Amino acid sequence: MRFQLIICAVFGLFLAFRITINDAVIFKFTNAVCESYNQSWFVFHNCRLKAVSRSKVFFNMNGTILHPANDIKIHMRIFKKANGYKPWLFDVTCDACLHLRKRNTPFLSIVYGLFKPYTNINHTCPYVGPQIITDFYLRPELLRLPFPTGDYMLSMQWIFDKKLQFDTNISFTYVEDLIKSK
Ligand SMILES: *[C@@H]1O[C@H](CO)[C@@H](O)[C@H](O)[C@H]1NC(C)=O
Ligand SMILES: *[C@@H]1O[C@H](CO)[C@@H](O)[C@H](O)[C@H]1NC(C)=O
Ligand SMILES: *[C@@H]1O[C@H](CO)[C@@H](O)[C@H](O)[C@H]1NC(C)=O
Ligand SMILES: *[C@@H]1O[C@H](CO)[C@@H](O)[C@H](O)[C@H]1NC(C)=O
Repeated sequence: MRFQLIICAVFGLFLAFRITINDAVIFKFTNAVCESYNQSWFVFHNCRLKAVSRSKVFFNMNGTILHPANDIKIHMRIFKKANGYKPWLFDVTCDACLHLRKRNTPFLSIVYGLFKPYTNINHTCPYVGPQIITDFYLRPELLRLPFPTGDYMLSMQWIFDKKLQFDTNISFTYVEDLIKSK
């Protein structure tokens, strides 16, 4: 626990340095996999991508939390594709309830900042009932991370009461558009 907190803090500091990125990039979803491991606590009704243009792909999710969740941790990892997905830079477990109260985990702030306008997952704990994400797409201007061009997967494993309940694994591509940026 202590170790995890230190890791969160160290990566947090690292990410707190804002990096200016070129907005001539393609930053879009390529795949979404959602799976519940405990249908009596979390059910997915929908978890789907919809391409609306070459550079814009919507992510829609609809799930239900059947009993209030007061203790929510998220195991977040990024993988980068190179002959299959390999662990890449981030592997942190953060306390989502604490974060929503105190905004103390910069990595989570970045991810959350990207999807907050598209969801009702925007309040403090407990969480119960419908959890909806509507037409969420990636906007490079909100990304405060430097990314090398490549294909990535953000794996988020949701842990309620210290037990894994469901996964949301979202893949995306990040391509610097060299022609436009000249
Ligand atoms: C999500 O990704 C993690 C890490 O690769 C993997 O262990 C897990 O099985 C994946 N979950 C699903 C539902 O594919
Ligand atoms: C599954 O969810 C129920 C609540 O609906 C909970 O009591 C139980 O502990 C959960 N099981 C696991 C293995 O997480
Ligand atoms: C989410 O799914 C449930 C169950 O299928 C449905 O009743 C509800 O209308 C859906 N909500 C949205 C916003 O799509
Ligand atoms: C949370 O999202 C709901 C639905 O989009 C919205 O009505 C509400 O104002 C939002 N609350 C906050 C604190 O942003």
